[in-house]
Amino acid sequence: MIISLALTNTVLISTPSPLPPPHPIVLGISGASGLLYAVRTIKFLLRAEYAIELVASKATYQVWQAEQNIRMPAQMSKQEQFWREQAQEWGGQLTCHAAANVGARIASGSFRTLGMVVIPCSMSTVAKIANGLSSDLLERTADVHLKERRPLVIVPRETPFSLIHLRNLTTLAEAGTHVVPAIPAWYHHPQTIEDLVDFVVARALDQLGIDCMSLQRWQGAEP
Ligand SMILES: Cc1cc2nc3c(=O)[nH]c(=O)nc-3n(C[C@H](O)[C@H](O)[C@H](O)COP(=O)(O)O)c2cc1C
Repeated sequence: MIISLALTNTVLISTPSPLPPPHPIVLGISGASGLLYAVRTIKFLLRAEYAIELVASKATYQVWQAEQNIRMPAQMSKQEQFWREQAQEWGGQLTCHAAANVGARIASGSFRTLGMVVIPCSMSTVAKIANGLSSDLLERTADVHLKERRPLVIVPRETPFSLIHLRNLTTLAEAGTHVVPAIPAWYHHPQTIEDLVDFVVARALDQLGIDCMSLQRWQGAEP
């Protein structure tokens, strides 16, 4: 009896096994202006040792060319290096998927994630997600996040908005999407373009409960 109690106690006080690593975050990048938003998101998530599953739409290639005169490699084998160089970050885990590969693991609801952020999000991608088109991997993965009721955050970038844009954004908000427009604030006294961009990135990641940036948060006004 004494022996069996001793054994039971041994089991009860055994050290717990280490927590499994957190699920990855899906990062969708679409062909809206402001690819720096995506680059800064990658930088901060990787620096905080998050795993990222990245998918960029076809139009992203053209926007890189127009905004930075940079050619984004078409070969998927070169994309991890490309995004890491842009972000200047070598930690964390980054897996890049081709937009055409609708059979990638992130296309399935059985692949667990912490959530998905589409940054920047074009009006075309807004429309396609709002209407459930799933015509490429980015759209399909966003659709999966909605059906699985996992967090989906979009950072739309367009101005002005047409009634159609607003209706599609409303549809997404009604379906549970967090809509975080690329509209920076000024109360944190931004000094650089990165300060402005980082405010938007931090507010987008806030929606996933991720606080991995040194954002100067509002502490209240002096009376
Ligand atoms: C340089 C450049 C900048 C663009 N900026 C925007 C933008 O800010 N917002 C937007 O909705 N579309 C923008 N577009 C248009 C989209 O890239 C286009 O609608 C494309 O079909 C979007 O495809 P995607 O949503 O699959 O990425 C831009 C295109 C180019 C070439």
